[in-house]
Amino acid sequence: MTVRTPDHEIDPLFLERWSPRAFDGSDVPDADLQAMFEAARWAPSAYNSQPWHFLYAKRGDANWERFLSLLIPFNQGWAYSASVLIYMISDTMPATGKDGAPQPSSTHAFDSGAAWASLALQATRMGYHAHGMSGIQYELARAELGLPERYQLNAACVIGRIGDPAQLDEKQRAREFPSGRKPQSAFVHAGNWPADLP
Ligand SMILES: Cc1cc2nc3c(=O)[nH]c(=O)nc-3n(C[C@H](O)[C@H](O)[C@H](O)COP(=O)(O)O)c2cc1C
Repeated sequence: MTVRTPDHEIDPLFLERWSPRAFDGSDVPDADLQAMFEAARWAPSAYNSQPWHFLYAKRGDANWERFLSLLIPFNQGWAYSASVLIYMISDTMPATGKDGAPQPSSTHAFDSGAAWASLALQATRMGYHAHGMSGIQYELARAELGLPERYQLNAACVIGRIGDPAQLDEKQRAREFPSGRKPQSAFVHAGNWPADLP
């Protein structure tokens, strides 16, 4: 079990956010979900283009089972216990051109990642956990979600309250704790690309 200790002082929220796989399935009230989407709404983006879209299903609603079935089987195996499942999409052609004309964007996924991070941190702040997933059956999901060509399906996430790890299989249970991180020296570089890195 890793205890998260930062090398420099930061807001504890950054350390409290982690990605469990056991959730308790309890309802996330709409007002709480709206607060998480609100945090996403205020994320920064190139030209303030706000290219993110979120398609969500809540446990037990008309879309829940269908949304779950679009994940890869490994993720279905634990995500079923969460309370909200969200597909995170970005507009590859946001309205940043002249008179709001659609323009190709090189940052649509980057901007949408900032929105997802905001959502996850707000969820943490409210006592929930969010767990991102790229284990999606992408082609099937695109078709089932009715995505037009112009939109990119980036990732999914679930949100819920943490549950009993006993409900996980043995392998997942062994990994059900907050992970550590590389030191800053592995990814922060003063000046040019370091010659000793590939
Ligand atoms: C874009 C993205 C995709 C991920 N895909 C999966 C996934 O398909 N299945 C899974 O169990 N975890 C997935 N994760 C969770 C990561 O493994 C996890 O965030 C990472 O190990 C760091 O751990 P932490 O979030 O607990 O700090 C994903 C996370 C992100 C941000």
